[in-house]
Amino acid sequence: MDKKISLTGIKPTGIPHLGNYFGAIKPALQLAQKYEARYFIADYHALNTIKNPRELRDLTYEVAAAWLSCGLDPEKVLFYRQSDVPETFELSVILTAFTSKGLMNRSHAYKSVVDANKEKGADPDHNINMGLFTYPILMAADILLFDSDFVPVGRDQKQHVEIAADIAQTINSNYKKQLFTIPEGVYDGVNETVLGLDGRKMSKSYDNTIPLFIPEKQLRKILMKIVTNSQEVSEAKVPETCNVFAIYKLFASQEQQNALAAKYRSGGMGWGEAKQELFETMNAVIKPMRDIYDDLMADKSKIDKILALGAQKAREISSKKIAFLRREIGI
Ligand code: ADP
Ligand code: TRP
Repeated sequence: MDKKISLTGIKPTGIPHLGNYFGAIKPALQLAQKYEARYFIADYHALNTIKNPRELRDLTYEVAAAWLSCGLDPEKVLFYRQSDVPETFELSVILTAFTSKGLMNRSHAYKSVVDANKEKGADPDHNINMGLFTYPILMAADILLFDSDFVPVGRDQKQHVEIAADIAQTINSNYKKQLFTIPEGVYDGVNETVLGLDGRKMSKSYDNTIPLFIPEKQLRKILMKIVTNSQEVSEAKVPETCNVFAIYKLFASQEQQNALAAKYRSGGMGWGEAKQELFETMNAVIKPMRDIYDDLMADKSKIDKILALGAQKAREISSKKIAFLRREIGI
């Protein structure tokens, strides 16, 4: 009874990779065991950068299939597309009336593009659309519409959650009434940054990702590309500073880790062998999830059905909230 609400948005702007899994999907699904969860695909946020309809549609399916395959149970978690909940956009309009332009000027996402433009000597507004400028307002609408208590996100989103809380407070104090729940960010899911093929943070922007659900053969091929040093097979190796081992740790049991570490230290193991070990261990964990993913992607109507049902349930909540807000603000 009276369970707290955890809500997050997933922007469909890239093929889900290991960093997304360990940094976002897994922690959010763990939170869903504790709280009432509402997780959605933020397709209108993605529109700011993805202007190709096919790409936007495909990535939306990719992301939905990935979360479902990783264990999101749509019976327990409200799972929907942002674009299927039009109340979000009405609330966004309401919020704009209470959001100072200065607050948006200070938003990092927008400011970093302005700064980059200035550095290049370009017009400060170059390549900035209003969607980027008002991005935090739409995100606040996502959060406030569903009376979210907790918002699990990466640290880069901290300021956006704070802006949502700020706007909610402004409105509550204007009407002298708790119209909105004040949301709180949850950032501790992402306690370790997953490193990519080149040892930098795994990110689509660095083109160093290991996609979660590529076919087995391709997975093996990509793992063979992990950058290592040029030590000979016979030489003893150091697991702690090795990219292969860092990824291995994410999938292996403590015993498996100890065994591979011992092989590193004793010498006689080449990088090819270490990578093969990584492939086998990782593939064993991923395979059952990949099977579900392949099944969903082969028949996308299954995904559509799940999201349609999610949208229906979401709208039962959001339409009541909007009706309530309209009354309260005099519309
Ligand atoms: P990318 O860096 O590939 O563009 P996103 O910014 O779309 O990834 O990340 C979506 C979510 O996944 C965020 O919550 C972020 O914290 C998490 N995430 C992305 N990459 C990593 C990583 N390498 N390690 C841990 N978490 C990550
Ligand atoms: N801005 C988030 C990101 O880039 C995605 C997002 C959109 C979101 N709306 C949200 C996250 C609401 C949490 C709550 O990752």
